[in-house]
Amino acid sequence: MAFLSTNCNSTPLITVTLIMLWLIPLVTHADNFKKNFHATWGHDRVKILDDGKQLTLSLDKYTGSGFESKSRYLFGRFDMKIKLVPRNSAGTVTTFFLASNGPIHDEIDFEFLGNVTGEPYTIHTNVYSQGKGNREQQFKLWFDPTTDFHTYSITWNPHNIIFSIDGQAIREFKNRGSIGVPYPVSKPMKIYASLWNADDWATMGGRVKTNWKQAPFIASYGGFRITACKWAHSTRSTNCLNSNSNGEKDQWKKQILKSSDIKRMKMMQRKYMVYNYCTDNNRFPKGLPVDC
Ligand SMILES: *[C@@H]1O[C@H](CO)[C@@H](O)[C@H](O)[C@H]1NC(C)=O
Repeated sequence: MAFLSTNCNSTPLITVTLIMLWLIPLVTHADNFKKNFHATWGHDRVKILDDGKQLTLSLDKYTGSGFESKSRYLFGRFDMKIKLVPRNSAGTVTTFFLASNGPIHDEIDFEFLGNVTGEPYTIHTNVYSQGKGNREQQFKLWFDPTTDFHTYSITWNPHNIIFSIDGQAIREFKNRGSIGVPYPVSKPMKIYASLWNADDWATMGGRVKTNWKQAPFIASYGGFRITACKWAHSTRSTNCLNSNSNGEKDQWKKQILKSSDIKRMKMMQRKYMVYNYCTDNNRFPKGLPVDC
C-alpha cells in the first residue's frame, strides 16, 4: 500500500500499472454477516448468530441498533433476507439501504414502518441522487413479513435501479441523466441496516406511539447475497461492468425490465402501492418532478 500511495502522481507508465491494480473486481459475498458486515451502533443489540449466518437487531427504550458492510460498492445486486418485528411493531422502523458518504450523497432505501398487531406494515422506498431525495413510493405487502424471511433486493446498474421483493419488481427508477435528472453513477455505497424508534412519524403519521412494555423489539436478517463491483480507492467501474457479462452472476449489470416485467410490476403497483410522489399534485403544486 505504501508503494501505491507514494506513487499516485508519477509517470504515465506507473499510472497505467496502478489503474490495472485498481480495477474494480466483481465480487460475490453471501451469507456470512461476520465476514462482510460490522455493527455500527447499539452495542450488544446487534447479535450475530449461527456462526455468521444470521443477525438480529434489537430496539429498546434506550437505543436501537445497526450494522453496515465493510466494503463499498459501485453498482451491484443486493439481496437481503429479513423477518420484521412481529406483533405490535408500531413506531419502529427497520431498514435496509445503500448510501454513499458525504454531504451531497446518494442513497437507495427500503424502510419498513411497523404497525399495531394485525395491521399492515408500510414498505417505504426512496432514491437520493446528489443529495436530493423526495422520491418516495410506499407499498403494502401481499404476505405477513413477520412470520418468515423474505428477500428484499436492490439492483443498481447504470440503466436503472430496481426494487424487488421475493424476485417481484415493485419499483423501477430509470437513469434519466440525459434529461437532467441526477442518477447515482459515481459514488460508491455501503450497505446499511438498522432498527430504530421513529414514533414521531412512522405509524399513522406519528399518532401511534411505540409501546415500550413490549420491548425489546427484534428484527432478523437471515442471510444475504451481494454480487457487485467492489470499490477500491478512486477508480472507475467500467471494467467490472464490461467484463464477461454472460453468467448468471453478471445478469444484474445490464438488467432492465422487459415489457412483460413492466406489465406485472404495474399490476403489483395498482394493487399494493399506497403512496407515489409522482401523483402527489398537492405536494408539487408547480408541477410534478421531471423524473416522473
Ligand atoms: C397501519 O395500519 C393502518 C390501518 O390499517 C394503515 O392506515 C396504516 O397505513 C398502516 N401503516 C402505518 C405505517 O401506519
